[in-house]
Amino acid sequence: MTKLVFASNNAHKLEEIRSILGDKYEIMSLKDIGCDADIPETADTFRGNALQKAQYIKEHFGMDCFADDSGLQVECLGNLPGVFSARFAAKYAAEFGINPDTLGEAKDERNMNCLLSRLNAIGAFDGNNLPKACFCTSIALVMNGEEHFFDGTVEGHLVADKRGDGGFGYDPIFVPEGYDKTFAELGNEVKNGISHRARAVAKLAAFLIKN
Ligand code: IMP
Repeated sequence: MTKLVFASNNAHKLEEIRSILGDKYEIMSLKDIGCDADIPETADTFRGNALQKAQYIKEHFGMDCFADDSGLQVECLGNLPGVFSARFAAKYAAEFGINPDTLGEAKDERNMNCLLSRLNAIGAFDGNNLPKACFCTSIALVMNGEEHFFDGTVEGHLVADKRGDGGFGYDPIFVPEGYDKTFAELGNEVKNGISHRARAVAKLAAFLIKN
């Protein structure tokens, strides 16, 4: 069985890819290979960050590897939060003139409140059209001395009030195209059928099964 590292310790992501690939590849997590380093993610694109992580593993552990990076892009904010999705409030609240003490406790909540506050400040919810956004995932694979990329996107729009209990991150304010519920209301089964991540993983899996 071919061994391949997935530069992640996220149990859900690991299980998803292992179940798609069956017994053709042995997918190892960062923990499995004894990597507890804080791998740098300093690029300005999703592809760049994913490649940085995969190359780090190749360089330090000598193993073929794939890695992912995801985020939300909001059109009227010049595609922010983008690569800063996981740390949007920490990076941008002060720049937007938002008092960080007003954003709540948990990281996801703080990021979402920072985004909503910015969108309200620029009047993004005032017109007839809700702000356009998309979730994006890029996966970089470093295998047999070559680099390959697999991208997945889901288009949609944002709503001004959070709705639903499922999912994580920005799910309570994102409505995918063709639906009238947020990702958090739709639940994991529907989300996993159409999500940016599922689309990128499907492309990676098709490539790995063929090669
Ligand atoms: P990661 O690269 O998959 O860890 O995602 C980085 C950040 O993007 C997360 O911390 C979330 O803020 C946001 N994000 C990525 N995917 C999703 C999603 O499916 N729903 C909501 N937020 C997401």
